[in-house]
Amino acid sequence: TASALSRDEKLLAICQLLNENIEYYNWVGFYFANHETQTLHLGPYIGAETDHTVIPFGKGICGQVAVSNDNFVVPDVGAQDNYIACSFTVKSEIVVPLFVDGKNIGQIDIDSHVIDPFTAEDERFLEFVNAEVAKLY
Ligand code: SME
Repeated sequence: TASALSRDEKLLAICQLLNENIEYYNWVGFYFANHETQTLHLGPYIGAETDHTVIPFGKGICGQVAVSNDNFVVPDVGAQDNYIACSFTVKSEIVVPLFVDGKNIGQIDIDSHVIDPFTAEDERFLEFVNAEVAKLY
């Protein structure tokens, strides 16, 4: 019979797959933009609970991607001034915007417990993941 997974259940399954299969993907989640209020809102995620469920556009790595529309790779979060710390175990981060019909509707956000793990291959892979996610909209 057809899958009855909701979109959020599918997004959570993607988070789970990425977190379980890529050892340096230690927190994996989606944020979604509210363009009226200029804020990002935490969606499905896997990893440590975070206080940062709402992030204003422009704030932190995530907020900057909401306005830049560009990937943001942070090899060492300690070297960033506009960064929102979720956990002291996090050493690096990658955020890749999610486009639906050319509009930046959110992002996938991945935190790592190691310094400088993310390569251009991660960027291409996460762009592919987001292109697949975009088909759910
Ligand atoms: N570090 C992010 C905040 C979100 S947590 O990583 C889950 C930032 O600076 O935007």
